[in-house]
Amino acid sequence: MKISMKKIIRAMYIIMVVIVYITTIILSGSIIDTDKIFSKNNIIVLFIFVLLAYIVSVIISNKIVSPLKRIEKGMRFISEGKLPDNLKIKDDKEFQEYKELMDAYSAMLKVIKKNTFDLNSQESKTEIILEHMADGVIAFSTSRQVVHMNKAAMRMLNITENEDTFEKLCQKLNITIDFDKIMYLPNYQSMEFKTQMGDLALSIVFAPFFSDELNPMGIIMIVRNITDSVKTDNVRKEFVANVSHELKTPLTSIRGYSETIMNGDLTYQEIVKFSKVITQEANRMSRMVSDLLQLSKIDYNKVNWNKSTLNTVDILKKVCEKVRYEAEQKSHKLELICAEKVPPIYADRDSIEQIVINILTNSIKYTPDGGLIRVYAGPIDDRVYIKVVDNGIGIPQKDLGRIFERFYRVDKARSRKMGGTGLGLSIVKEMVDGNNGTININSKLNEGTEVTMTFPTKKE
Ligand SMILES: Nc1ncnc2c1ncn2[C@@H]1O[C@H](COP(=O)(O)OP(=O)(O)O)[C@@H](O)[C@H]1O
Ligand SMILES: [Mg+2]
Repeated sequence: MKISMKKIIRAMYIIMVVIVYITTIILSGSIIDTDKIFSKNNIIVLFIFVLLAYIVSVIISNKIVSPLKRIEKGMRFISEGKLPDNLKIKDDKEFQEYKELMDAYSAMLKVIKKNTFDLNSQESKTEIILEHMADGVIAFSTSRQVVHMNKAAMRMLNITENEDTFEKLCQKLNITIDFDKIMYLPNYQSMEFKTQMGDLALSIVFAPFFSDELNPMGIIMIVRNITDSVKTDNVRKEFVANVSHELKTPLTSIRGYSETIMNGDLTYQEIVKFSKVITQEANRMSRMVSDLLQLSKIDYNKVNWNKSTLNTVDILKKVCEKVRYEAEQKSHKLELICAEKVPPIYADRDSIEQIVINILTNSIKYTPDGGLIRVYAGPIDDRVYIKVVDNGIGIPQKDLGRIFERFYRVDKARSRKMGGTGLGLSIVKEMVDGNNGTININSKLNEGTEVTMTFPTKKE
């Protein structure tokens, strides 16, 4: 049987009353007369006393025990994960000791509430960070089941409902890795893999996670989309390979011709002819180097776009005059057709001139002799359009998408023969972007090419 404080208090009270009763009777002189002690009347009085004592003891025991009960109830609440309101203390009626106990209990409750709040807000902070991370995060339990997955992971890996285990996800990512090997990695180390899933290049990092007692609880997998950096890396590698190749070709011919000249036994005409080739190749190399320098300047944001309001028609006239000689060499007809009112453009003069020159020289180069090249200009919405149309060899549809890439040429041999570097349109694209412009190329093989650009008329 459990010992109850209430019962003890009640029993003690009743025993006390009985003792007091008996003592009173004894002291009142009926010590030896047992008949008197247990006479009917005295028994009734005793019974009434005991009853009264019981009632008083119930009241007192309740008074003593009920605050304890309330604390117990509060504790039970806390243990169930709920937080009770502060206990209400009736100051004037409670015992002082209980008031102190209640105060201590209220203070404890406050601390628990604060800690719980901190913990909850920490948890929700972690939750928010996880959900808004660009990287995918997936947690696996020791039984290899997915126990958490953020939105980025679901989106990036396009996860379906039944892809809920370590093995299934590794299979999806084309990774072969032993779960236990990661689980027991020494000293908080992690393992990284690079993989390809469709068009996505992914970096996957695995690391074990632990309980407070440092027992392994599972594995965290972090998925990062590295497609862009892989692409940039590839473009960089390709670029270096292209530059080396492009510079090696003219160097080889320069060396070949100069060695031939040095070996002697050549007629004067032959020497002049070979020297011309050497000069041509050297010029092409020098053009390429200056184009590369220009691109690298743009890449490193070292270009000062000196923007101002420019007279569109004046610029186009000036550029047409600059290339007219070259056009006439190939018997092209070059026309400038402007709308009645062409608004000024807000741009950097030097770069606009170079953009139009690069496009016009392409039209001149890639149009068979006697072609027609037209430059149009006019307003469109709140911008100005400049369009260069030729009736040249055109660009195949499949190449149109890559035409702005550095060193990309439809026909390398033809471009080289024309003295091209394959960088003209890349520079154009960068400069158009730098001037907040747009550029679009339409072309039909053997029919001609149409390059349309738009530029702002005022500061944007
Ligand atoms: N008007 C055009 N007509 C036909 N092909 C063109 C025209 N403009 C550009 N191209 C094609 O685009 C390629 C890239 O042009 P560009 O970057 O200026 O290099 P480059 O002129 O030095 O070869 C050219 O090699 C050519 O194949
Ligand atoms: Mg060009």
